[in-house]
Parts: sequence; structure tokens; C-alpha cells
Amino acid sequence: MRTRLLLGLLCLIAAPLALARAIPDPQQRPAPGNERPQVPIAEAGYSTAVNYQLQCAGCHQASGQGSPANDTPRMRGFVGNFLKVAGGREFLVRVPGISQSALNNVQLADMLNWLLTRDGMAGDSLPQQVQPYTAEEVSAIRSVSILNLPDTRSGLIKAMQAQGIVIEDGMPR
Ligand code: HEC
Repeated sequence: MRTRLLLGLLCLIAAPLALARAIPDPQQRPAPGNERPQVPIAEAGYSTAVNYQLQCAGCHQASGQGSPANDTPRMRGFVGNFLKVAGGREFLVRVPGISQSALNNVQLADMLNWLLTRDGMAGDSLPQQVQPYTAEEVSAIRSVSILNLPDTRSGLIKAMQAQGIVIEDGMPR
């Protein structure tokens, strides 16, 4: 009786170990339709709008309306205001969604230049004169990280308020 019990216990312990496949199967083939290796997004050559949907819309939402429940501010009709205050131009490149993105500097410059158009995201928040970002500028600004993002952002918001700009970023305040 005791031997059987011990044998049963041993089986219980050994079964999951025997089932777990620690060594990858060298004969394993990719699933059908999945044969080609994945192309990194920085080399995929998608349009800016597609890059936005793939890399940004998860948080910022499809049309840039943001998600206050997830602390993501609205970009649509608001993001252009950052270009009206000192430090705002750099801030837009240094937010983690951009500076730590898998997109390359050319793609990010294109993305920012697209966001900062009337039809892209900025709408009426766009200043009269906008100097387009270049890949070199993005590269230089991107490599310097923001030490205190919330304070930096609220400083920029205060500077906007001082100019009489109405803050419609969808965030509670
Ligand atoms: C994981 C969620 C997430 C992703 C993905 C993301 N962002 Fe963001 N983004 C945020 C949050 C949250 C903020 C507010 C500032 C902060 O806390 O970082 C923000 C701020 C910004 C800002 C500054 C506007 C403001 O009001 O602060 C810009 C511009 C921006 N993001 C662009 C992008 C772009 C372009 C992408 C895609 C390449 C992207 N983000 C991907 C969450 C995200």
C-alpha cells in the first residue's frame, strides 16, 4: 500500500516535468503564413499615419483624443500650444512615447511635423509660424532625458496659462 502511494506521489511530481519542454524542438517550423521574419518598424517603411496607429494610438487613441483614465492628455486641438512656450519644443521630443520609441529619427521628425499641422493633431492650437523638426534635431534632443516629467509638463502648462491659453488637454486639474 505504502509503495503504491509513494509511486503515485512520484508520478504526480514527475508528470509536469516530463511534459514541460525545456529544449526547443530543432525541427519546429513557423506557423503557416508566419514564415517570413518580422521587419523592425524602423525599417518597415510605413506611412506616418500607420506608424501613429501602430505606436501611439494605443495610449493617445485613434484621433488623438487621449484617455484621462490612463493619464494620457488630449493632443487633438491642443498639442500645438507647446510650441508657444519656452522649452515646449524640446518637451515634445523628450516625452517617453517619442524619445524611447522604436521609430527612427527620420520617422519621428515626420511624426512630429504631422502632429503639428492643422489637419494632423494641432488644429487651432497651431502657432502662426512652425519650424519643422529635422531628424538631426530629434536625434540631439532625444538623447537628453527629462528628469522630472510631471513638473516639467506642469511648468509648461503654467506658462501657457500665463499667456491666456485655455488648457483643454482633457486632464483633471
Ligand atoms: C504607453 C502610453 C503611450 C504611448 C505608447 C505613447 N504615448 Fe505619448 N504620452 C503618453 C502620456 C501619458 C503623456 C503625458 C506626458 C507623460 O506623462 O509622459 C504623453 C505625452 C505625449 C506628448 C506631449 C503632449 C502632452 O500634452 O504632454 C506627445 C507629443 C506625445 N505623447 C506623442 C506620442 C507619440 C507620437 C507616440 C507614438 C510614437 C506616443 N506619444 C506614444 C502616453 C503614451
